[in-house]
Amino acid sequence: MTLIFAHRGYSVLNPENTMRAFMEAERAGADGLELDVQMTKDGQLVVIHDEKINRTTDGIGFVKDHTYKDLKKYNAGYKFKKWFQKTPIPSLEEVFEWMNSNRLICNIELKNGIIPYAGMEEKVISLIRRYKLEKRIIISSFNHYSIVYSYRIAPEIETAPLLSESLYMPWIYAKSIHARGIHPKYYRGLEDVFKLSIENGVAVRPYTVNKDASLKRLYEMGCTAVITDDPFKAIAIRNLYA
Ligand code: G3P
Ligand code: CA
Repeated sequence: MTLIFAHRGYSVLNPENTMRAFMEAERAGADGLELDVQMTKDGQLVVIHDEKINRTTDGIGFVKDHTYKDLKKYNAGYKFKKWFQKTPIPSLEEVFEWMNSNRLICNIELKNGIIPYAGMEEKVISLIRRYKLEKRIIISSFNHYSIVYSYRIAPEIETAPLLSESLYMPWIYAKSIHARGIHPKYYRGLEDVFKLSIENGVAVRPYTVNKDASLKRLYEMGCTAVITDDPFKAIAIRNLYA
């Protein structure tokens, strides 16, 4: 059965990358979460998509220029303020703490392609080990050097490179960097390549799949998982076609 990962949480209805979006994804029945990690000035791992806090919070500036304590003052749900109370930027540790109460899988995207946060991989991995989440985490990134480095320091944790362009025989590339999966950008027509990857032992979890017809196509070809903003809809469609 194709698993359903909530992209930045249940982000179609909730402020992305917030505890609320993660909890609502679980309530909707998602199998997993996808979230983005950046690092503060004082080296704390925080869950936010952009390098800057401008788009998703009521603050401004780079994550790397704020301390963790300072970042907590801002509202990551301000675009939804009509509906929700203040929702702070979560730390990765807060997410892990909450994961003690459920069985979700968590796909951590290391956002170290633009800013090469020194020591990010070590910090993420030591937190995963501290919370004994090794079997429930998939580390992904567009920074494939970081994927390889993560594998070297923690071969027990699954890795998956993010692919924004379609690669020739991506399963060969994945295996060459010891990745057990690939997370490709989804385009119609890639299903045959996805199928070959899976047949060659490499998991495929395309992003960001929101259209009914795309979900149906991926369920029918037996895709490993889909990363979607709307887990509730994805589950309803899976109930019909998977
Ligand atoms: O992990 C898939 C997807 O989240 C990658 O793109 O920009 O949404 O982080 P982005
Ligand atoms: Ca992401």
